[in-house]
Amino acid sequence: MTIHWDERYARRARLMTGSAIRELLKLTEQPDFISLAGGLPAPESFPIAEVATAAQAILRERGTQALQYGATEGYRPLRELIARRMSGGGLTVAVENVLITSGSQQALDLLGKVFLDAGDRVLVESPTYLAALQAWNGYEATYLEAPMDGAGLDPDALGSHLRRVPKFIYCVPNFQNPTGVTLALDRRHRLVQLAAAHGVPIVEDDPYGALRFEGDPLPSLLALVGASDNGASGRDAGGVIHLSTFSKTLAPGLRVGWVVAPAEVIARLALAKQGTDLHTGTLDQCIVHELLAGGQIEAGLGAIVARYRERRDAMLAALTEHFPATARWTHPDGGMFVWVTLPPGADAVELLPAAIEQGVAFVPGAAFYPNGGGERTLRLNFSNASPERITEGIARLGAVLREY
Ligand SMILES: Cc1ncc(COP(=O)(O)O)c(C=O)c1O
Repeated sequence: MTIHWDERYARRARLMTGSAIRELLKLTEQPDFISLAGGLPAPESFPIAEVATAAQAILRERGTQALQYGATEGYRPLRELIARRMSGGGLTVAVENVLITSGSQQALDLLGKVFLDAGDRVLVESPTYLAALQAWNGYEATYLEAPMDGAGLDPDALGSHLRRVPKFIYCVPNFQNPTGVTLALDRRHRLVQLAAAHGVPIVEDDPYGALRFEGDPLPSLLALVGASDNGASGRDAGGVIHLSTFSKTLAPGLRVGWVVAPAEVIARLALAKQGTDLHTGTLDQCIVHELLAGGQIEAGLGAIVARYRERRDAMLAALTEHFPATARWTHPDGGMFVWVTLPPGADAVELLPAAIEQGVAFVPGAAFYPNGGGERTLRLNFSNASPERITEGIARLGAVLREY
């Protein structure tokens, strides 16, 4: 019997398209290839010995618990610790406001499952995180795009979009993926005010906030809303759903992230998660808890930040040296990405095959725009390669650009 699988897929499955990044990542396996395309942390930063020690202690002391099924909401000591660490400055986060997810990517998918009917609108930054679009395309979302500049999205340009009643606003306020741009403090205040005035929730996705190389940390949108008295435990429609992850501060392979939201939203997300994976791996959660409680995650941050700052500096210096004067790029204060705008008339998708031939890859920016555009843009990652490899990669790319 021959089954025509194509005819069997649901409409939403047809809307799921492969990620350009994942395809490109396959190329990084060739020797001497320099991939500036992925979004991988520096493997040298993984605290392998600390993870091994924690895992051994957990298995010795409470092995049956660590290997047993657990609560969908997450390992309670980890939820409690996250709630404590996120409270403060007028914001109270209770354990009922915290859900542990299998990376924040799962939180994005659960949000789609819980909030999005076919055709619903999501207001996203333009450009925005590609895999959020991939998650929500599966729920047949449509997108309104908020234009960005060097200070993030401009809340005052959102009026007409907000009147079209998006289900939520999606924002990556710190060192955004893909642009590296940070939302300015006055815009944070304004965004929170405007969203509350229109009754639209904000999904704040903050995987990179702890990776700050310079300047002072800015309050999260969650903290701003909390300080104005309608915080995570409140029922106000202008609420914030805050996502974060241990992927960038510890290790992405552990797949541990979290959501902070009003308790009723957490309960819904937990129901959706039950149907997805029952719960995030207990041993992984125990390991994260051990290293968070013991201060090892905090202690490792300094070295990660110093390493990434050096790599960013190498990338910015190489761009100045090797890229045409008519190209523009962002100067991120943290995170993992630089965003380049090529000279007028250039097309990053056209450029990519020649770059790959020269042994260097990037992600063409068009992928990050849900409704098209961005042909002149591209994303470069600086966290994964050494400064020398970054310099060499940008030199190769500069040569390809000159040729082009
Ligand atoms: C903006 C953003 N959100 C979410 C994620 C997902 O991270 P994870 O699922 O590893 O926690 C990433 C990863 O690159 C990201 O850049």
